[in-house]
Amino acid sequence: MYSEKVMEHFRNPRNMGEIPDADGVGTVGNPVCGDMMAIYIKVKDNRIADIKFKTFGCGAAVATSSMVTELAKEKTLEEAMKITRANVADALEGLPPVKMHCSNLAADALHAAIEDYHKKQKSDKGGRK
Ligand code: FES
Repeated sequence: MYSEKVMEHFRNPRNMGEIPDADGVGTVGNPVCGDMMAIYIKVKDNRIADIKFKTFGCGAAVATSSMVTELAKEKTLEEAMKITRANVADALEGLPPVKMHCSNLAADALHAAIEDYHKKQKSDKGGRK
């Protein structure tokens, strides 16, 4: 069954929504269930100044994305890159085994958003030359 923490994040998700002028966007699909997740980040001084998520996933996906945004906020990009699926599940006091794959989405989407940010930085510089 779900922990109290999962239920609480599911009922009251943090940082849900979209950042229209995001510095990085990560979109991933879950190969297990086909659900989707998007994470938007705003970066300032190498830190995640703002972060939001949108998911077309199950309740556990909502809770894990909510948790991942809390874990990543204000972190440096390097620290945020190190947030793993296991960190997210642990912070939620565990997930039922059949729902562990749902936590993959949140961490993967966060990492994809950071990679997207780096890619954009590079192409911006290229454009200015
Ligand atoms: Fe698809 Fe949970 S069942 S994300």
